[in-house]
Amino acid sequence: MKKLSVRTATKEYPVITGSGALKEIVPLLLNMKPAVTSLMVISDDNVAPLYLSDVTAELSKTALPVYDHIVPHGDQEKSFQNYFSCQTAALEFGLDRHSVIIALGGGMVGDLAGFVAGTYMRGIRFIQVPTTLLAHDSSVGGKTGINHHLGKNMIGVFHHPEAVIYDAEYLKTLPQHEIRSGFAEVIKHAIIKDRSFYRYLHENVRSLDDLGYGTRLEEAITKGIQIKAEIVQEDERENGVRALLNFGHTLGHAIEAELGYGKWTHGDAVAAGMLFALRIGASVYGTSLIEDSEINEWLQELGYPQLPASLSPEKLLSRMKKDKKAHSGTVKMVLLPEIGKAEVREVPDPLLIEELHKFLAAK
Ligand SMILES: NC(=O)c1ccc[n+]([C@@H]2O[C@H](COP(=O)([O-])OP(=O)(O)OC[C@H]3O[C@@H](n4cnc5c(N)ncnc54)[C@H](O)[C@@H]3O)[C@@H](O)[C@H]2O)c1
Repeated sequence: MKKLSVRTATKEYPVITGSGALKEIVPLLLNMKPAVTSLMVISDDNVAPLYLSDVTAELSKTALPVYDHIVPHGDQEKSFQNYFSCQTAALEFGLDRHSVIIALGGGMVGDLAGFVAGTYMRGIRFIQVPTTLLAHDSSVGGKTGINHHLGKNMIGVFHHPEAVIYDAEYLKTLPQHEIRSGFAEVIKHAIIKDRSFYRYLHENVRSLDDLGYGTRLEEAITKGIQIKAEIVQEDERENGVRALLNFGHTLGHAIEAELGYGKWTHGDAVAAGMLFALRIGASVYGTSLIEDSEINEWLQELGYPQLPASLSPEKLLSRMKKDKKAHSGTVKMVLLPEIGKAEVREVPDPLLIEELHKFLAAK
């Protein structure tokens, strides 16, 4: 079992990873101050049949009342409707200011449950129990929220968990395309911050099977969390360096919104967004990275899909302009002068449109 700490200006919390990590949750809850009064697990209808009974059995060792509320799965469910249903359930169960919400699931559940916790009675505590590879990213850093049909993650609050309890055993039931989705964020962490981690991944993970369910996967999770934690520690509220975590996300979020939430996985959209950002980087810096074609081929080998040519460049651009990072209508993207080094640059519309046309036409 590994334990690392996320330390920001406003909060410090442990991230516990490894087989059997769930056992840590009972002492953690019993030691919390002020004392916890009740627990509500929020999960989705894929994860609950697999893990809810184990988790509630463990939680009941605290002798606290344990409630649960299950929402439908899929990113389209990170919605006002489910936010409201969670708040209603919390009120009906009689949760008070000292209750704790447990987010049991992937990034969708984590973002939704975190937002519920961050706003219920003006904010109560919550714990992340991630069950997807992607959630190595989403469970750390305190960004919570829901989607609006006009834009992804547009409504939310910064609200850190009390702890992240991450048992990689849960990933054994995760479909391959969801492993691929989560691995896109691992690749992102390497590309923006750690050249040698990128080289390690590129050399050792030639297919998703190479990732396996053992040491290599756990290494990818731990290293990805470390990079995320370092960045969040430096810039909790995204006034600077944290924006670099959005590499691949400007187009990625636009793809998710344009195709309809849940149609493509988050990671598949981010992978396409990373390739597009590399193209834009080549134009802005006047030269491609040596690794550009290597990354392109690698992502194809790993099975990341190509964008449907039917997508409209103009509509994607209009979505990109609604991104939270856009400023006075100008798109800002994270670009890479080199692997392991990223920066935010404004990108003019004519360049974006030209490159979007080429990107969508490329096969
Ligand atoms: N808050 C942040 O900092 C942050 C960062 C990155 C991504 N995100 C968000 O995370 C979300 C994507 O997260 P995700 O990819 O985990 O999606 P997800 O939570 O929708 O999970 C993907 C699918 O896998 C299923 N699933 C989850 N765990 C399982 C398991 N152990 N076994 C079998 N099936 C399982 C889910 O039911 C779902 O169908 C997006 O909404 C994205 O915006 C947030």
